[in-house]
Amino acid sequence: MSNEGLQAAQQKMADAGVAQTAIDVFTHYYGQLEEGVTGTIEEDTIEPYLDPPLLEDVQIDPAHAKQVFDQLAIIDLNGGLGTSMGLDQAKSLLPVRDGKSFLDLLVEQVLAARRGTGSRLPLIFMNSFRTREETLEVLEKYPDLPVGDLPLDFLQNKEPKLRTDDLAPVTWEQDPALEWCPPGHGDLYTALQTSGLLQQLLDAGFKYASVSNSDNLGTVPNPVLASWFASTGAPYAAELCRRTPADRKGGHLAVRTSDGRLILRDTAQTPAEEMDYFTDEHRHPFFHTNNLWFDLEKLDAVLTERDGVMGLPLIRNEKTVDPAEKSSPAVYQLESAMGAAIEVFDGATAIVVGRDRFLPVKSTSDLLLIRSDVYTLDERAALVQQVDPVPTVSLAADSYKLIGDFEPRFPHGVPSLKDAVSLDVQGDWTFGVDVSVVGDAVLGEEGGEVPEGARVGTVSPA
Ligand code: UTP
Repeated sequence: MSNEGLQAAQQKMADAGVAQTAIDVFTHYYGQLEEGVTGTIEEDTIEPYLDPPLLEDVQIDPAHAKQVFDQLAIIDLNGGLGTSMGLDQAKSLLPVRDGKSFLDLLVEQVLAARRGTGSRLPLIFMNSFRTREETLEVLEKYPDLPVGDLPLDFLQNKEPKLRTDDLAPVTWEQDPALEWCPPGHGDLYTALQTSGLLQQLLDAGFKYASVSNSDNLGTVPNPVLASWFASTGAPYAAELCRRTPADRKGGHLAVRTSDGRLILRDTAQTPAEEMDYFTDEHRHPFFHTNNLWFDLEKLDAVLTERDGVMGLPLIRNEKTVDPAEKSSPAVYQLESAMGAAIEVFDGATAIVVGRDRFLPVKSTSDLLLIRSDVYTLDERAALVQQVDPVPTVSLAADSYKLIGDFEPRFPHGVPSLKDAVSLDVQGDWTFGVDVSVVGDAVLGEEGGEVPEGARVGTVSPA
């Protein structure tokens, strides 16, 4: 029966003009779905990865760094929809500071780096069919952004969502666009090839790419990292950060015992009863930031050798066809993670970077912090942390989890948080103008208005 499902899905993709390589990749994952592959990685099959090099120890020759920067392209992943914050558009369009969005700041970071180094530094977004139009509209504001004939974006592939009961492509007449999904950021490799961009970059003399999430404002173009990466001769490198007890999420690298290769293990691949190992910052001391470096020639060689199918581990994501309608049919989305490619490249490596390169916005509490005076923007359009540690923020899910609920509760902007240790908003509170949080603050379940000019919280005794 599911063979019919596969054929229907392949036909649907072909009819929609999806490239054959992307259909092959989908077919590969469909086979795994049918076999019931879960992709779990048990603790006793891996060894912790304990000795990556540290960026702080790296010494570079500025002339080498310049040479590498001249051959570097910057790619931002922008195809996701931020569904966990209730968005149905690219998260990077959200305003962050001074009316500027993530997208504006990413562009400003690259333009500043070009001014500072004289390098070409193309900035190219990977969009999905859901994010392309609005993203390109914003980028029109930046006539100096394009480099030569290179595009400002490339489009990732799309695949049908599959019904969980018979693994056939789902039909959703209310909104047929919801029958499709992007195949996760592991699609980067396929999309670079099927869009022709990989070849175009190589033809234009680019040899390296630095890739990160468009919701991470920490990835200012960095000549030291670029020079380090090129001097390793590695085909691929991942940026890691040292894990603190608060970092419960985020995948980690490990050495696979069976073949000694570095692999990525994400939350979804960890058996529930082994989560204590996963989150133990002493056992697995570094987490994976999703900031990656590639040698484009070596990527091209690997893709050619594998006929475009990287064979990354499957992530089976179960959702409803309409994420906003929990009673709509249950579907699987077949996805893969970009960082899992570390196991594919011989000689892949990693480096531990400072926390300043990892400022992701995964939730509205991250957004509150990024918008607040805990950070300032410097002349490189980089966010500079003003206090250490950053306050912990917890917002009641009912009133703040979704962006449409969050925004109206801060009609005058977010409160000052630079003197806060923690903010725990347990009820439905709307914030007046010029509110500051000091020390530890709890706003109770009763909810209400935080009045103009209020100072909430108490400084805990030392
Ligand atoms: P995440 O999967 O962490 O996404 O993607 P998210 O956007 O925070 O998503 P939700 O809330 O779980 O839906 C990390 C980065 O990868 C991009 C996203 O845009 C984000 O920058 N991405 C994700 C893609 O470009 N394509 C995809 O298919 C998935």
